[in-house]
Amino acid sequence: MKPIIIYASTHHGNTRKVVEAIAKECGVETVDATVVKEKDLSSYDLIGFASGIYAGKYHQAIRNFARKNLPVNKKIFFLTTSAMNRDFSASMNDSLKGKDANILGKYSCFGYNTFGPFKLIGGTSKGHPDEDDIKKALAFYQGISSTCSKFQDII
Ligand SMILES: Cc1cc2nc3c(=O)[nH]c(=O)nc-3n(C[C@H](O)[C@H](O)[C@H](O)COP(=O)(O)O)c2cc1C
Repeated sequence: MKPIIIYASTHHGNTRKVVEAIAKECGVETVDATVVKEKDLSSYDLIGFASGIYAGKYHQAIRNFARKNLPVNKKIFFLTTSAMNRDFSASMNDSLKGKDANILGKYSCFGYNTFGPFKLIGGTSKGHPDEDDIKKALAFYQGISSTCSKFQDII
């Protein structure tokens, strides 16, 4: 099993925090889509797309990356942090057209948000993702993957 997570995390590093926890605990390779635009994903068995949410959408770099690099018939999953903690994966639909991707699951949690007027009130969801969000993300990843034996020891 060869997993990888493609991520974009440009606001406060909220999404990167979750991605790095999974990478550390479960030995998953990661790629920052705001830096790397092209990668051959053909050898990967499980591909995660992780992003903060910006104006209701996954980061443009993630949407572009998936459109350009995701091969057909791959197992994928979604991971987001956002102010509203909702499912924004519909914003990936265009990028996934014709890919026949098998979506194994979606994880979402709150992320500290100081966008626009929210900054004036000290932001929303301060402290998130927190320890519990990370723990749930690890459990989510473990649920869809067989690669995380290390985490099995601590839950
Ligand atoms: C420009 C901008 C637009 C945002 N738009 C939304 C939005 O439409 N819905 C939402 O739930 N959160 C929105 N947020 C909040 C972020 O999704 C949230 O803070 C997220 O955790 C940021 O992740 P990051 O630190 O990994 O970039 C927005 C934040 C910014 C900076």
